[in-house]
Amino acid sequence: MFAQARASGQVLQSSGSWLVLGHAEATALLRSPTTRSGFIADLYRELLPPGAARDEMAHRVNFLDPPDHTRVRRLVAKAFTPRRVAELKPYVAALCEQLLRPLAGARDIDLIAAFAHQVPSLVISELLGVPIADRERLTILSDRVSELLGLRANLERGPGGALEAAESLHTYLRALIAERRRTPADDLLSALLAADEDSERLSEDELLSLAATLYSAGHRTTRDLFSNGLAALLPDRALVAEVRAGSIPTAAVIEEFLRFETPTHYVARMLTEPMEFDGITLPANEPIAIVLAAANRDPAAYPAPDRFDPRRWTRAPEPHPPLSFAFGAHFCVGASLARLEAGTMLETLFAVLPEITLVDTPLPWRHTGLFRSLETLRVHTG
Ligand code: HEM
Repeated sequence: MFAQARASGQVLQSSGSWLVLGHAEATALLRSPTTRSGFIADLYRELLPPGAARDEMAHRVNFLDPPDHTRVRRLVAKAFTPRRVAELKPYVAALCEQLLRPLAGARDIDLIAAFAHQVPSLVISELLGVPIADRERLTILSDRVSELLGLRANLERGPGGALEAAESLHTYLRALIAERRRTPADDLLSALLAADEDSERLSEDELLSLAATLYSAGHRTTRDLFSNGLAALLPDRALVAEVRAGSIPTAAVIEEFLRFETPTHYVARMLTEPMEFDGITLPANEPIAIVLAAANRDPAAYPAPDRFDPRRWTRAPEPHPPLSFAFGAHFCVGASLARLEAGTMLETLFAVLPEITLVDTPLPWRHTGLFRSLETLRVHTG
């Protein structure tokens, strides 16, 4: 589909919408100080009734523009440090083993329910400091709120249970924040509160929205990165053998997962000034979909883009980084955590369940427009 659309250009207008498909063009836009995201917050303010869901969406860090974005992002960077992420490695490895060992020898199980969903959800809970007993409930609530993300059409179809879910989620997080203010712990939420103390203060809405955003961004996309990628890898038994033997570095496999099966298909932006690409002028003040998944399959950036080939990341010169975590001011805060989780999940999977194979059925892909994911990933483990 992307190849077909690209025949009309790397930047094009289709059914009234502006689309950017090229890697170089997407990078140029994402890096430009003339791109804005705040219109998305405005859209939620306009379409949602007053309440927790509207507060959360209208204050989400990825929908903020400077100077608010710069202020909130600086605070996240102070708390979400590389050291905090690196320290999670032993926890992630132990968790993966603990979840995978009981699956040995199983026939036709769903690896997403049993593993790919569990790991990121438990890790982000551990990182933020959500007590174990509350994790499952919070994950369900946050998944429901995430249904508000994406195409305007999804939102206009009606917010479903998302509004009530956001109320419950915020009530919970408000209490947890109050508790951490009274008694700080060694977790990301306490670190955010401490960073807030010695910088410009976040409003209560911003703080709640940030905690909810980190919680939801932390599990769904990482689950999809791992399971979408594994579905591309597992059918190629020769490649699986090489990955298992360690002849292809795990980091290269994860980079190819990111490129080949991009979980978040696009980000939306507006320009404050028109921008020209090869004779096409992208106008100011109109929504533009920067299609990260198409940029990651751009033949001008990646030779044989539709081939799943982790080795491309081991050859010199190294290809352009995939745009799966976006680029520029809104580059994903959790990228290094997501890479660490997916890499550890893959290594532990092949160590504990070396004989894993896909159950031979069509893969149940789910597209929301914004996200591409699998409903289930059925495997035999022995
Ligand atoms: C460990 C888990 C993760 C956490 C905690 C996390 C968190 C975040 C946050 C807070 C932002 C907003 C940054 C900003 O606006 O300044 C963000 C942006 C983003 N994240 Fe993640 N993320 C995670 C994993 C992922 C994964 C696995 C993907 C996909 C491969 C992903 C894709 C993105 C994209 C595309 C953006 C840019 C959104 C935009 O520009 O509008 N994230 N992430």
